[in-house]
Amino acid sequence: MISSILVGTLALVAPARAGVKYPDCANGPLKSNVVCNTAASPEARASAVVAAMNNNEKLANLINNAPGVSRLGLSAYQWWNEALHGVAHNRGNTWGGQFSAATQFPQAITTSATFNDDLIERMGVIISTEARAFANAGRSHLDFWTPNVNPFRDPRWGRGHETPGEDAFRNKKWAEAFIRGMQGPGPTHRVLATCKHYVAYDLEHSGSTTRFNFDAKVSMQDLSEYYMPPFQQCARDSKVASIMCSYNAVNGVPACLNSYIMDTVLRKHWNWTDQNQFVVSDCDAVYYAGNANGGHRYKSSYAAAIGASLAAGCDNMCWATGGTQPNPSSAFPSQFNQSTLDTALVRQFQGLVRAGYFDGPQSAYRNLGASDLNTNVARETALRAAEEGIVLLKNDGGVLPLALNGTGGTQPGVAMIGFWANAADKMLGGYSGTPPIKNDPVTAARAMGVTVNYVNGPLAQSSADANAAVSAAQKSSYVIFFGGIDNTVEKESGDRTGIAWPAGQLSVIQRLAQVGKPVIVVRMGTHLDDTPLLAMPNVKAILWAGYPGQSGGEAVMNIIAGKTAPAGRLPITVYPAAYTSQAPYTNMALRPSGSYPGRTYRWYDKGVFQFGQGLHYTDFAVAVGKGWAREYDIAEALKACQGKVTYLDQCPFPAVPVTVVNMGQRESDYVALGFLKGEFGPKPWPLRTLATYKRLAGVKAGEARNVELEWKVESLSRVNERGDRVLYPGEYTLVIDQPELGNVTFSLKGEEVVLDRWPQPS
Ligand SMILES: *[C@@H]1O[C@H](CO)[C@@H](O)[C@H](O)[C@H]1NC(C)=O
Ligand SMILES: *[C@@H]1O[C@H](CO)[C@@H](O)[C@H](O)[C@H]1NC(C)=O
Ligand SMILES: *[C@@H]1O[C@H](CO)[C@@H](O)[C@H](O)[C@H]1NC(C)=O
Ligand SMILES: *[C@@H]1O[C@H](CO)[C@@H](O)[C@H](O)[C@H]1NC(C)=O
Repeated sequence: MISSILVGTLALVAPARAGVKYPDCANGPLKSNVVCNTAASPEARASAVVAAMNNNEKLANLINNAPGVSRLGLSAYQWWNEALHGVAHNRGNTWGGQFSAATQFPQAITTSATFNDDLIERMGVIISTEARAFANAGRSHLDFWTPNVNPFRDPRWGRGHETPGEDAFRNKKWAEAFIRGMQGPGPTHRVLATCKHYVAYDLEHSGSTTRFNFDAKVSMQDLSEYYMPPFQQCARDSKVASIMCSYNAVNGVPACLNSYIMDTVLRKHWNWTDQNQFVVSDCDAVYYAGNANGGHRYKSSYAAAIGASLAAGCDNMCWATGGTQPNPSSAFPSQFNQSTLDTALVRQFQGLVRAGYFDGPQSAYRNLGASDLNTNVARETALRAAEEGIVLLKNDGGVLPLALNGTGGTQPGVAMIGFWANAADKMLGGYSGTPPIKNDPVTAARAMGVTVNYVNGPLAQSSADANAAVSAAQKSSYVIFFGGIDNTVEKESGDRTGIAWPAGQLSVIQRLAQVGKPVIVVRMGTHLDDTPLLAMPNVKAILWAGYPGQSGGEAVMNIIAGKTAPAGRLPITVYPAAYTSQAPYTNMALRPSGSYPGRTYRWYDKGVFQFGQGLHYTDFAVAVGKGWAREYDIAEALKACQGKVTYLDQCPFPAVPVTVVNMGQRESDYVALGFLKGEFGPKPWPLRTLATYKRLAGVKAGEARNVELEWKVESLSRVNERGDRVLYPGEYTLVIDQPELGNVTFSLKGEEVVLDRWPQPS
């Protein structure tokens, strides 16, 4: 009560804040409108508020910085809010006072490496709880433009770290867990999640091709098999509240104007209409679809692009500094009609209804506030997410974990070298907010009592002075080099041209490796070819940490010191540097042909490190398929779930029993990864496909743990040239781990069955 009085009085004098202001259903102009009746259906409520608006009011509210309708007590609303890995600094969010910090988790690329989807869900719960607390305090809004689920197709892409990685199935499962966490279980959403960028968006800038004019040429097979599944999960299976259409065109038509993508597939094929969910455009995507310089020039005017995007099913248009603000009035009624206008607004308001916008101060999630930010649970979860996502790529002679206890006090200490070593901000990556704690590796090591000899290092320079680093190494027991790239190098609107280690960093590592002390390299950021490091015998260990977030420094040091055992797995292939000259960036094809090497571990196996790779401080053995049948009849398998699943591809297949044995001396988590192999379905056959996985916590030394790897028939299916997902008869092998630790071969008998008939463009 006190706070609402304060807000009421201060509103006259305080500078306008960007955040949400809930409509007053108790006393405001809408109080007897159906929209305020919590017993009515969300659709009826949303329709009622739209019916109360006149056309000028409707037209004004089709953009991200919606002015609201003051006559109806609807305040301005900013649809552009970001929270990819924690509440971020951006237009819709204002920071200050008790809202000066929010939990900053690792970027998706690092959390994906955990292969722990319960953890991903808990992260979604924490992010959305903090986001909703910001909103309730009038410091942000109810919809957030997260997650980014585009598969990380090409290693040059500057935004790959925002995504869960290169595999369509991994991204799908990550999205499922994250959205469940973000939106919450009930009919009222904690916040509205937005899956982006729909679809086939994974290029910022390559020569004269930019994200604003790129026409992604994608076969039906690749579209259905690779680019679409994360969005199918979002829309059809997770019922995400909104989807963002992307800048690029798909097969000639800009995504936001592409009725095949937006309507035939998204709304019709995936039945994403049951809750009147809404689509937002990426910022200036509609502008660049029109006649703007540098864009697609798909329409002869901005107005025509606006009309075509609304007609295709884009309900809210974002603009940013690069373009000019869309003016829907200029396009109405010449470019779009009344029902399109009304539908777009009903969809937007239905989203807000589902977030409890009109439900009053007693409604679900309205109690969340400043005390729900940065809790101990949030802090521990951020640390765990980082620890679980760190991947051990090399550990010669078991150099890790280091016995850091001997290095404190008068002992020689550890040389910590490199620009990442004491840079807490770099741990966060792009789209970040302010974390509650600063945490870099040097500070974390000192907090452990380690004597640290720290020397900064180069980022991207072609040469560097290594003398200070070498002196530090000479007086230390161990050398830890923190390097790689950061998000000033791989970034939004700036892709890289190559993925070789920056020469300046490499020359410092080379000098350090000559000192004679064991060198540990902690690689940050995403793609870099580690081949030169593997050729240096004194580089004894390599860890990959990506962007480990607010507790990244502590997480890395906990792994290095052996306080936590590493068990993360690469969610990307580490490509050799030559790959970028073999695979043209703009080639969207997944399968190899001629000199084209193909993309991802499914088609390309010459990676320096492969998707799914990751070592431990112990050794594991597995036994697969004990007591599990080796022959299945397709028709019978599908009949068993008739009436139990809405979509055939979601039919469960009998779970595979696996026994995991910790053969070594240390307790460790273990990710049981199951890959499918086999010669069935359309050629060429993929090398392997991730089919199922489970992270096991704390397998003790000597322990044998039994698990059931659950999966659905989608994991056994393959996609034909039309894009149909088909379950084929044949000989299948489920292979556990990368590299392989065990397998089970089984057969599917009977006729092939189409699980999902892919709609064709007209
Ligand atoms: C999905 O929509 C199609 C028509 O577009 C319809 O035939 C089908 O029954 C719907 N499925 C579900 C589960 O709603
Ligand atoms: C309005 O436009 C949409 C999209 O182009 C179209 O499908 C619909 O038939 C039109 N409705 C009317 C009443 O003209
Ligand atoms: C360091 O020594 C302390 C006290 O003996 C012990 O609790 C801790 O686990 C040791 N840490 C490492 C990394 O060995
Ligand atoms: C399965 O394991 C057996 C026995 O180790 C091995 O010979 C075979 O090559 C494996 N099959 C596949 C497809 O990996």
